[in-house]
Amino acid sequence: METAAAKVSWKIPLFKIYWDEDDIEAVNQTIRAGMYWSCGPQIAEFEQGLSHYLGTKFCAVFSSGTTALHAVLWAHGIGPGDEVIVPSFTFISTANAALFVGARPVFADIEDSTFGLDPEDVERRITPRTKAILPVHYAGGSCLIRELREVADRHHLLLIEDAAESFGATVDGKAAGAFGQSAILSFCQNKIIATGEGGAVVTESKEIYEKLKLLRSHGRLESADYFSSTDYLDYVTLGHNFRLSTFCAALGLAQLRKANRLIEMRRNNARLLDQRLVGIPGVGVITPPPGYHHVYQMYSIVVPGGRRDGLMQHLAERGIMSKVFFHPLHKTHFYKAELKYDCSLPVTERVSQEILTLPMYPAMSEEEIDLISKHIRGFFSGAR
Ligand SMILES: Cc1ncc(COP(=O)(O)O)c(C=O)c1O
Repeated sequence: METAAAKVSWKIPLFKIYWDEDDIEAVNQTIRAGMYWSCGPQIAEFEQGLSHYLGTKFCAVFSSGTTALHAVLWAHGIGPGDEVIVPSFTFISTANAALFVGARPVFADIEDSTFGLDPEDVERRITPRTKAILPVHYAGGSCLIRELREVADRHHLLLIEDAAESFGATVDGKAAGAFGQSAILSFCQNKIIATGEGGAVVTESKEIYEKLKLLRSHGRLESADYFSSTDYLDYVTLGHNFRLSTFCAALGLAQLRKANRLIEMRRNNARLLDQRLVGIPGVGVITPPPGYHHVYQMYSIVVPGGRRDGLMQHLAERGIMSKVFFHPLHKTHFYKAELKYDCSLPVTERVSQEILTLPMYPAMSEEEIDLISKHIRGFFSGAR
């Protein structure tokens, strides 16, 4: 029997990738070029397009958001003996990034208005070993990034943003990802713009940008293209292969060209969902704070009173996928049992019990939105 957890063909999945002929043509052209499948000119073009879009000075693309996180902490010189303050209410690679460079992730609690790091709790967790604050912009929104910037500045700490989920989100017109010294993005298949796998670091620092380029490609000084030049290119530091392929960069450029349209489609769907869900007793619709432009990479609701899992099951039985983003990291086997984390994060724990992410994608139809709303209403009115 098919269980909800293992269902392979949902009537309404959690997300669908938006793609068009422009995407296909971009990748086809790269294939047909017959060379530069690695390190092609589309890489720099995509980087320029991303920094232009976000209003940041520099951008270096990576093979994933996770390798971008690893590289950005590495480039900022974070290492053994250092602490990095992160939320527990996030995808696991936010915290793991600190471990990758030998530092310790320190979990701070979130607050209810954005589900991002609570600036006051962050401040309480600062120690002489704290090197950076690494907040997450949740689900297409922005965290209290201006307040976190103030905390970071007051304590002379780095602010490195995890904007994996929030490409295009803004606070008073300034992009999520443009507030810290550096930020990361993800282009995994469920993100605002997608390249299958992919990521980027945007930064205000030329020095960090130069380091990132070394770290992502074996520590090699790339004064010429390695694959088509006979020049000796020296290796000046330890590096990895964290490069994005040219296909992904070409696809990313095509996706970037339609990013505004994709975001508008998501925002419109969120508005329709809000309208239909707002009156249902038992459902908490999430409203971003004033001045916060949300891009709805995900659409989450709050279901208090212990009914969240029942609703998830009810929707699954009707072919509608929903999912918990996120279960807290400090409760995972890895952090709790292996690394022996024992922390008190009451808001994180409550929100993780109540949050439910519903389907959201640009090409959602109004019929799909009606069906989701109808079954949520049915669950709370006791209809089968
Ligand atoms: C908040 C957050 N950080 C980091 C990542 C990692 O990105 P990627 O899947 O591209 O490695 C994700 C992706 O799910 C994420 O949601």
